[in-house]
Amino acid sequence: MFYHVKELQFNARVSAPDPKFATLLLDQFGGPNGELKAAMQYFVQAFVARKPYPAKYDLLMDTATEELSHLEMVGATITMLLDGLGGEMKNAVEPTYLSKLMEGKAAKEDIIQEGLVSPGFLVESGGGPTMTDSNGYPWQGYYVTANGDLTVDLRSNIAAESRAKIVYEYLLQFTDDPDVKNTLRFLMTREITHFQQFTAALADIQPNFPPGIRQGDPRYTHLAFNNSGPESQRGPWNQGQGPWQKGEEWVYVEEPLQYSEETNGLLDQKIEGSKKTQEEVKKANKDLSESRSSEIKAAVGSGAMQWSSYGEKSQKSPDKTTDDKK
Ligand SMILES: [Fe+2]
Repeated sequence: MFYHVKELQFNARVSAPDPKFATLLLDQFGGPNGELKAAMQYFVQAFVARKPYPAKYDLLMDTATEELSHLEMVGATITMLLDGLGGEMKNAVEPTYLSKLMEGKAAKEDIIQEGLVSPGFLVESGGGPTMTDSNGYPWQGYYVTANGDLTVDLRSNIAAESRAKIVYEYLLQFTDDPDVKNTLRFLMTREITHFQQFTAALADIQPNFPPGIRQGDPRYTHLAFNNSGPESQRGPWNQGQGPWQKGEEWVYVEEPLQYSEETNGLLDQKIEGSKKTQEEVKKANKDLSESRSSEIKAAVGSGAMQWSSYGEKSQKSPDKTTDDKK
């Protein structure tokens, strides 16, 4: 359940109204890397983690809740930056806040072209945030990625936090208001923190690579194709010891076309670079299938179910994946 506290998590303040920056800041309200996207992403991901991985569930829900607090702060900041606009817009017969701000037709056109990325925002919002990005595009459910595999979802979240961090970094360059900068720095910092929390949670799941259950076919995992001419750059992504145990290496395929012809379209490819056998891969697939499937089945149960256990002591045991590792 949610319980609303009227105070903001961080004391967001603005020094003076700034409708242009309010428009830009909308990106973190209803944009693709904004706070609502983050909140909804972790919220949606949390459901399937609830029973089998209570510790990860806790992390996801706590972070979703913090993101809602950030959404609230961004909305409050936008409203303060538009301060007075709502009242002035209702003043339909007298000169409005906007016309005073812009002083004349030429200045008005200037400000619309140069500053207000989405001028419609000012006439549609009535002085508060709209559920759009700074271009006026409505918030979309497809910003949210969740597929029920924690190793995949956590990686998605690490990427989401990275993007949100960079958006705040860019936004900081478009305001001189010290109070707004303070808030933006706080929000940017929390993205860094969440990045680290999701990274730690991912490391707590072992094994966590490759994502999901099935291992890669060892005939193909270590091949790096030279897909451009005349020469490809070499680096740790296609040369020498790859991200594997000692003795395993990248196999650099200089002539991919010739290679495909010689191997009957890779069907006759032998295992190179990798030390894994097909039997080991099969066994790993089977073992991991069984353990992940039983983790979830054991936790979820069947028949009559209840989501919460009121009054009972909450489970404090670590997630199964952590136990397996130890
Ligand atoms: Fe975040």
